[in-house]
Amino acid sequence: MISPVPHVAAMAPYALADLSAPPGKRLVSLSQNESLRGPSPLAIKASESAAQNPHLYPDPDWTSLRDAIAEVHEIDAGLIVCGNGSLDLIGSIARAFCGPDRAALAPAHAYPFFRSATLMTGARYDAAPELAMTADVDALLNSVQPDTSIVFVANPGNPTGTRISRTELLRLREGLRGDILFVIDEAYGEFADHVHEPMFDLVDRGDTVVLRTFSKAYGLAGMRVGWGLFPALIGTEIRKLLNPNNAAAPGQAAAQAAMLDQDYMRATCAETAQQRDAFAKRARALGLDVPQSFTNFTLIRFASSEAAASADAFLRSEGVFLRAQGGAGLPNCLRATASVADDMDLAAGLLEDWMQREASK
Ligand SMILES: Cc1ncc(COP(=O)(O)O)c(C=O)c1O
Repeated sequence: MISPVPHVAAMAPYALADLSAPPGKRLVSLSQNESLRGPSPLAIKASESAAQNPHLYPDPDWTSLRDAIAEVHEIDAGLIVCGNGSLDLIGSIARAFCGPDRAALAPAHAYPFFRSATLMTGARYDAAPELAMTADVDALLNSVQPDTSIVFVANPGNPTGTRISRTELLRLREGLRGDILFVIDEAYGEFADHVHEPMFDLVDRGDTVVLRTFSKAYGLAGMRVGWGLFPALIGTEIRKLLNPNNAAAPGQAAAQAAMLDQDYMRATCAETAQQRDAFAKRARALGLDVPQSFTNFTLIRFASSEAAASADAFLRSEGVFLRAQGGAGLPNCLRATASVADDMDLAAGLLEDWMQREASK
């Protein structure tokens, strides 16, 4: 019989978004943290032009893209590594620094792919309790084991939307052993840039990686381009594990143009924050617990997991898809991606209807 290696056989499949709208209903997907609008028109133009030569491989070293990122963020282009989405980089980091007899650690309600990427390598995955749905540095430090080799923190976090300060991240790094790689995943970093706490300088220490993506604020989720700033020696190991030619040419071209149009990205973030906060206000007015979000989504905590499942089913029956969060250890929560005003109004209205229906039961 053909059988996978035992640690793969033991893994559950990654929970993909279910987007099967009921017949006759328009699908309103608020389930994948996609941008509420597309990328800069310059990005679309650049990708169309790059798609004219599909018989050629893309730049395997992402040269022009790295230069654009380096120029905007004032960082060293030589330390940037690009991925087929940041998932590609997270997976390669786990493969390089985890494996049997090693473990990765993350906050309890961390992005579920940290777990998958760790388990794929045959390593153990540990979770540290959070405080008020926020990463807790003391709990993380207390949860470090002798075999811990990676600590993953998404900041801001997904699905919580909360963040910890630069001071707290520095305290965490200082408290970790020098042989532990610290991965700060800033997939939603652009939505929190207004707090002016860039983390790229930590990479100079040699033991810390900062990841970003074009999938969220830049509106390029479908193009699959992520990037990270890596200490030189860590980047060398990661590059060994990436598939050559991992980022398609239209994606690289679109990402480069999007990076150079910061005004467009900033306007996307502003519109996102407006929709997110208006929706959160309506959810809070219903008595639901909604932590302050620094991302392009809102987490809604219900009284119980049954209540969350019931609200989820009610919205789905009308074609509006939020995302259940059992996989992140929050079965009493649903996550709603910020989208255009009409769709957010529809979602908030349905949530109000559901509450009314519950109250009259
Ligand atoms: C925290 C976090 N990291 C990484 C990713 C992966 O993003 P991508 O592979 O599209 O760059 C996501 C996507 O939702 C995310 O929420």
